Amino acid sequence: MPGTPNSVHLAQLETPSLSDIPDGRGVLVRVLRVGVDGTDREINAAEYGAAPAGYDFLVIGHEGFGQVEAVGPNVTFLRPGDFVVATVRRPGTSVYDAIGLQDMTTDSQYFERGINLRHGYLTEYYVEDEQFVVKVPRGLRDVGVLLEPMTVAQKGITQAYEIQRRLKVWKPRTAAVMGAGTLGLLASLVMRLRGVEVTTFGRAARPYLNADLLDQIGARYVSTTERTIAEAAVEHGPFDLVFEGTGSSAVVFDAMQVLAKNGVLVLSSITGGNRRLEVPADRINLDFVLGNKVMVGTVNASRENFETGVRDLSQAEAEYPGWLARLLTHPVRGLDRYAELFRHLQNPNGAIKIFCEVAAS
Ligand code: BGC
Ligand code: ZN
Repeated sequence: MPGTPNSVHLAQLETPSLSDIPDGRGVLVRVLRVGVDGTDREINAAEYGAAPAGYDFLVIGHEGFGQVEAVGPNVTFLRPGDFVVATVRRPGTSVYDAIGLQDMTTDSQYFERGINLRHGYLTEYYVEDEQFVVKVPRGLRDVGVLLEPMTVAQKGITQAYEIQRRLKVWKPRTAAVMGAGTLGLLASLVMRLRGVEVTTFGRAARPYLNADLLDQIGARYVSTTERTIAEAAVEHGPFDLVFEGTGSSAVVFDAMQVLAKNGVLVLSSITGGNRRLEVPADRINLDFVLGNKVMVGTVNASRENFETGVRDLSQAEAEYPGWLARLLTHPVRGLDRYAELFRHLQNPNGAIKIFCEVAAS
């Protein structure tokens, strides 16, 4: 119940029906796996999220993966048995929502399944309009639960390339990824798949599974307990693209100072606190101006980011077989063991992806 700390519980809900979706476009999905992340922890801590109108609880879970059980008469592309992931945001009223870019909404209110004002996927079945359901090839069934976090990296990086078309010939050679958790690993992967030299920063010192995983895709891991970002940048930077996803606003200002001329810095951390900082403002500003640098915020993802995310997951399986599955460190079997999901979230202890195995396919 958003607003009440530690109130996560099981609830009995009616099985959704295809007729809940207008115009015969309904897709009934049997949920197989649902990943959880810091957003779920914040919702359960009553720091974030809201229940849908008419409910005093929110079904959580925005990283869904499931199998189509049945489709309405006007569903065109999906068939029973298909593996699918549904997007998270639902349209509001702005012009961006009207063209399927609700991730870019300018409305003050946003609707996100499992997060804000719409029920999510940590349940046995859900129904959704076909336009919000993305097919995942059978060959990705074991790692499909990584698609939603992948789309967050995907959107940020795609936006960066879009923006950099301003430069006509921009081709990034070096990238830095701030944060080596699930999002940092996936952002590092996306940049490696594009042939870029990647330096990924995290706090933990080796031995560290995430650092080993970065080795396996040819990215360089730097522990900030051993070297500062600025020190590492002297050797490996400056960086043409920086992806920031640590959750710490302080790192943003470190990132600004290691960005190359004409570079682009992508900010994706949701920082709900009230932190204040002293920064070398003149110097940072001057370097941005004299270096024609860009900084952009990114949230959520569009359907297109889910589709290119599927392609990147496929390429990753081809180039680094088995790598994605190594991210799935903490399975929890059965909806009734939800408390264990949250115990892991509270004390991640080496966890990369914590997820609920709701049903077997
Ligand atoms: C989700 C995004 C969402 C964001 C803000 C993240 O955890 O993965 O889809 O837009 O939280 O609510
Ligand atoms: Zn998330």
